[in-house]
Amino acid sequence: MIKAIHPIAGGIAFACVAAFFGGTVATKLSGSPEAITAVKLAIPWGFFILIPAMAAAGGTGFVQSRDRDDQRIGAKRRRMPFIVANGCLVLIPAALFLANRAAHQDFGPMFQAVQTVELIAGALNLVLLGLNIRDGFISAGRIKDKTLTLRRVP
Ligand code: HEM
Repeated sequence: MIKAIHPIAGGIAFACVAAFFGGTVATKLSGSPEAITAVKLAIPWGFFILIPAMAAAGGTGFVQSRDRDDQRIGAKRRRMPFIVANGCLVLIPAALFLANRAAHQDFGPMFQAVQTVELIAGALNLVLLGLNIRDGFISAGRIKDKTLTLRRVP
C-alpha cells in the first residue's frame, strides 16, 4: 500500500509545483491582468492538494527507507528538508502575498520582485522533486543507473 501511495503522492506534488510555475509563466507572458489574477488566486487553493501530497510522499518515503542505506535513497532523504523549507518559508508566503496583491489589482514592483523570487524557488523545488523521482525510479530498478556503468571495471 505504502509502496503504491508513495510515487502517486510524489507525482501529484511535482505536478502541483509544475502547474503553479507554468501558470505563473504563461500568465506573465500573456500580460493579461485578469489571467494573472485568476492564477494568483487559484494557487493558494492548490496548497490543499500540494501539502497533503508532499506530506504523504515524504512520510511514505521515510517509512519505506528505514532499513535502506543506498546512496540514492540517502540523497532523497537529504533533499527533503530543502524541499519543505523552500515550500514553507518561500513558496507559501510568496503565493499568499501575491494572491493578496492580485486581489487588489496591485502588480507593482513589489509584486514583480516577489513573483521573481517565487519563480526561482519554484524552479529549485521542481529540480529537487525531479531528482527524487529519478532516484526513486533508479532505486526501484525501473530506470538504469548510468553511474554504475561508469564504475564497472572492464
Ligand atoms: C516528495 C519527494 C519524493 C518524490 C517525488 C519521490 C518519488 C519516488 C518515485 C517516483 C519512486 C519510484 C517508485 C516505483 O517505481 O515503484 C520512489 C521510490 C522510493 N522512494 Fe521516493 N520520492 C520522494 C521522497 C522520498 C523520500 C523523502 C524518501 C526517504 C528517504 C524516499 C524513499 C523512497 C524509497 C525507499 C523508494 C522505493 C525504492 C524501491 O522500490 O526500491 N522518497 N520515490
